[in-house]
Amino acid sequence: MSTVHVSNHPLLLHKLAILRNKATDPKRFRELIREISILLAYEATADLALAETAITTPLMPMQGKQLKEMIGLVPVLRAGLGMVEGIWEMMPAAEVWHIGLYRDHATLEPIKYYSKLPVAPTVDVCLILDPMLATGGTAVAAADLLKKWGARKIKYIGLIAAPEGIAKLQAAHPDVPIHVAAIDDRLTGADDPFPPGYILPGLGDAGDRQFGTG
Ligand code: URA
Repeated sequence: MSTVHVSNHPLLLHKLAILRNKATDPKRFRELIREISILLAYEATADLALAETAITTPLMPMQGKQLKEMIGLVPVLRAGLGMVEGIWEMMPAAEVWHIGLYRDHATLEPIKYYSKLPVAPTVDVCLILDPMLATGGTAVAAADLLKKWGARKIKYIGLIAAPEGIAKLQAAHPDVPIHVAAIDDRLTGADDPFPPGYILPGLGDAGDRQFGTG
């Protein structure tokens, strides 16, 4: 079973509460997604492999460390886009590979509409970036796609997960660690006054709230 890391960093939890608030406007929402993503990625990359590198300080030579693995950031369009930039600043040598998946409104199943992955993998570690782990269908489809591509080490980074999404991703990809800021109560169903498949209490539609399209 894959590990689930729920960050309890005070900075992150403070920011998450503002993010969830429906009064938060799209500009602040985007800033918070960016900031929270950096904090989550910092924790999710704590086990990256390092290599020794010889450097010289102004005083003397010494052995330093450098990242050994090539990282791929894989945002799932469109809600994952806001997670890229902040993380990319922390690891500027990373490659960014976009995957377009949307949820069919009726079936809630993921439909792939964009992927331009090259023939062979060019990175050692793939970080799937998608803020909401709801039904888990999109995350499973993204990991399927990356594994078919040949990716060997994959991690999922999201902001909020539903227990249903965690269970589905763990069942399909027990080797993919999950990093989130919170696990919420459940998904909306047919009896709820909201469309089905949303996370409760959640934050609403992460794409609409970033792009002002709600
Ligand atoms: N996608 C969202 O943007 N929000 C949810 O609550 C679930 C899926």
